[in-house]
Amino acid sequence: MKKIYIRTFGCQMNVRDSEALLGLFLEKGYAQAESEKDADVILLNTCSVRAHAEHRVHSILGSYKKLSAISRQPSAKKNKKAESLPKVRLKAESCKIIGLIGCMAKNVGEEVAKRFAHVDLIVAPSRLHKIPEYVQRIVDQRPKTKDQRPGLRIIDLEDGTREETFYSAEYRQDKSHAQVVISTGCANNCAYCVVPFVRGALRLRAPQDIIAEVKRNVAMGRTRITLLGQNVNDYNFIEAEQSGTKRGYTRNHPTSHVLRPTSFVDLLKMVEAIDGVEEIEFLTPHPKNTTRELFKLMAKSKKIKKYLHLPFQAGSDRILKLMNRGYTKKEYLELVKDYKEITGGTIGTDIIVGFPTETDEDFAHTKEILEKAQFMGAYIFKYSLRPHTQALKLKDDVPAAVKEKRHAILLDLQKKISAIEADKR
Ligand code: SAH
Ligand code: SF4
Ligand code: F3S
Repeated sequence: MKKIYIRTFGCQMNVRDSEALLGLFLEKGYAQAESEKDADVILLNTCSVRAHAEHRVHSILGSYKKLSAISRQPSAKKNKKAESLPKVRLKAESCKIIGLIGCMAKNVGEEVAKRFAHVDLIVAPSRLHKIPEYVQRIVDQRPKTKDQRPGLRIIDLEDGTREETFYSAEYRQDKSHAQVVISTGCANNCAYCVVPFVRGALRLRAPQDIIAEVKRNVAMGRTRITLLGQNVNDYNFIEAEQSGTKRGYTRNHPTSHVLRPTSFVDLLKMVEAIDGVEEIEFLTPHPKNTTRELFKLMAKSKKIKKYLHLPFQAGSDRILKLMNRGYTKKEYLELVKDYKEITGGTIGTDIIVGFPTETDEDFAHTKEILEKAQFMGAYIFKYSLRPHTQALKLKDDVPAAVKEKRHAILLDLQKKISAIEADKR
């Protein structure tokens, strides 16, 4: 029996993607390996959101070289012009299959292919559903005798709609909790963020597919549900028109009339109405289109957890504008105030320090939001310049030491606030 090992980096979306993929392999008869050494297929499901995340994966990929003995054509070594010869990847049947998948594959897949001859498979997030088929093709191409033949390498960096079958396997790590993807990609263009590039255009799963997945999980005892999307508030599903032609980002779904779109709040209500669902969470809402209607539903609901993860990123209006976030400090603080008044719930956030041109005065506004909003917890990041982002146009001019200092100040402040908030509960 072949064994697979999937190592995951990055956000909950990646955690869920790895789980769904593992489920597909288990259905195909694979077993889960205990470690890389024990595996026939190793997949790294990766994150590109900050440079640091990518550096780690580069060194892990380097270390896999010894796990996947690869030899070049002997004649190529002796030939003086060896460097100009096409690299022929000779892989024996016993070699492990190594794949770089997910966000980093899209971001730096081509470079990785050049640098690491032992990597067999490079697949972007939109194409994860193709991986079992690709692995099978690579296995089929491996030599059955001792003779070595070139190993097949597959690189698929297309953007596109994932096939629904990707979510079909019932495997979950948790007995009582299921994460359910409602959308892939992102339609926002926060200036610092590589996610819209690596994850592609926003695409929505149809409400009936989401509901069916929730019901399958509830039937298996997973009564706590987390709905996942980069900005869940962007969920607004429109059925395709009569002709059956694709419209917007809907599935090809012939109906005789155009129905009212299903908003995120509608979707939450549909999930809430499912018998057996006990708790509902969602990740991540964006402040620019988080509505009071959502808060009212949260207040009324017995199932939706009264916790909101609402990243504010920066406090200064000038920086928020440069970041292209679509709200001001005042609007954000009002949203938080209304949320707390309406739901009585708790709140968390993400913050970036050291965005290009951020001054001490700008930073003081970030501190002010932290002090006023009283978050349960905050993920605080130092700005990292990313390819394919608008902020590339701006010079990364906040010195590393200043970023470090601001990061430490916020961590320290938030630690105190978190302790106070935890005491209140
Ligand atoms: N879609 C989610 C998550 C985005 S990535 C959202 O909009 O909240 C998670 C967090 O990483 C972001 O909220 C942001 O705080 C951080 N982040 C994204 N790009 C970054 C960059 N270039 N440098 C530092 N932090 C970044
Ligand atoms: Fe990135 Fe903004 Fe999309 Fe979140 S909403 S994934 S921060 S572009
Ligand atoms: Fe990272 Fe991709 Fe998530 S870049 S944060 S794993 S969407």
